[in-house]
Amino acid sequence: MQDLTGKTALVTGAASGIGLGIAGALARAGMHLVLADLRPDPLEQAHAAIAANGGRVVSVVTDVSDPASVAAAGSAAEQAFGKLHVLVNNAGVAMHGIPVEQAPPEIWRRVIGVNVMGVIHGIHALLPLIRRHGEGGHVVNTASISGFFVREGRNQGGYAMTKYAVVALSEALEQETKGSGIGVSVLCPGPVRTPFFVSGTASGLTGTARADPTGGFTGRIEPEAVGARVVHAIRHDEFYIFTHANERAVVQARHARIAAALDRADALARGSNRLKPALRLSPAPDGRPR
Ligand SMILES: NC(=O)c1ccc[n+]([C@@H]2O[C@H](COP(=O)([O-])OP(=O)(O)OC[C@H]3O[C@@H](n4cnc5c(N)ncnc54)[C@H](O)[C@@H]3O)[C@@H](O)[C@H]2O)c1
Repeated sequence: MQDLTGKTALVTGAASGIGLGIAGALARAGMHLVLADLRPDPLEQAHAAIAANGGRVVSVVTDVSDPASVAAAGSAAEQAFGKLHVLVNNAGVAMHGIPVEQAPPEIWRRVIGVNVMGVIHGIHALLPLIRRHGEGGHVVNTASISGFFVREGRNQGGYAMTKYAVVALSEALEQETKGSGIGVSVLCPGPVRTPFFVSGTASGLTGTARADPTGGFTGRIEPEAVGARVVHAIRHDEFYIFTHANERAVVQARHARIAAALDRADALARGSNRLKPALRLSPAPDGRPR
């Protein structure tokens, strides 16, 4: 989607951090903005900051874990600007510092409700608004580099699980929107300087990670830089948006481990064909046994 000027974007989790960085970058690219966030006061401040730079903006207090609330944000977007073109499903909460075994069900429900169901609600209620005007558009889902591996020693399994889900949802959505003029990207940031871990603390979600507002991460970049990357990806129809490459080796090690396990399955199937009929390979395409 090359021409963003005069078109409309809706960003969830827009009152702070990465969402605000993306909203600012989209406004600078000439888009009208709908800012959606759970917290009214920071939302008002974000609204004022974008309007002060000349952006046309409306803000809607929204709980992405509530489908009706997300649908209402879509109605507000159409009421204010006529059409919706870009959807950024970005709202998210932390769940770090809690071993999987110890996290109580209500915390699982809350983090899944925001990080996974929030994205699903956006796709369900708002993607049809982009489809119906026929001018094309783009959906960006915020996952994380944690959508590709579980960082050891941080007890962030619950968080990573939700971000793996966002990567899978985005890969599916890309397949399902092919040829429709609607692009899809999955934003997979490394550490970004935002109040994420403080917000997580406020929601009671960060367990032993609570004490450290940085989440213990170094190399954090500014949300504005992430916003610029997202605008570039929308314009160039990039699917995976990474902000850091420093953990490439960890991702590669995980992929190598999976490849090795597939090799073992392959070897087992070939080597023990006679012993294990259930693993026998299907015939070759020409019908001859392999
Ligand atoms: N900060 C990082 O290092 C980092 C890295 C990778 C991915 N992320 C992801 O980026 C996204 C944004 O996080 P951030 O770092 O900007 O944090 P942030 O806390 O600054 O922003 C998150 C925003 O989401 C809002 N929000 C929370 N629950 C909501 C709900 N139910 N409905 C609507 N809004 C809600 C919060 O009010 C807040 O304004 C999240 O999905 C997070 O998982 C962050």
